[in-house]
Amino acid sequence: MDLLKAATEVREHAWAPYSRFKVGAAIRAASGRVYVGCNVENVAYPEGTCAEAGAIAAMVAGGDTVIEEVCVIADSPEPVPPCGGCRQKIAEFAAQGVRVTLATTQGKRKVMTVADLLPGVFSAAHMGRA
Ligand code: THU
Repeated sequence: MDLLKAATEVREHAWAPYSRFKVGAAIRAASGRVYVGCNVENVAYPEGTCAEAGAIAAMVAGGDTVIEEVCVIADSPEPVPPCGGCRQKIAEFAAQGVRVTLATTQGKRKVMTVADLLPGVFSAAHMGRA
């Protein structure tokens, strides 16, 4: 399945009444399965969750733990990069070279890698447990 299409479709389900900024994310896992997520906001603002976090949760619940590719889409002037927390969440399951495509609903694209997104990532090696 096309990741951009999957992210575009799930974005429509975003619950974003507070920011009015809908985000969709799709992940292709090592099994070949595609997992999707959208942002889910809450009236208690800090309880909201990002699209990427939703897709990662769906992936793990589905039995996959290796990310092979990520796509994120929003209706923004420029492709929106994942927030800091989501960068760390992606890095938990993705190798440094994994491709992350950032897209806008108007057709702009920016392709990055996990390493681009989070240089100096905190890892198990920093705890002496590589
Ligand atoms: N958001 C995401 O879902 N992913 C991103 O990469 C950036 C931000 C959401 C969080 C919140 O619901 C809204 O966008 C505005 O920050």
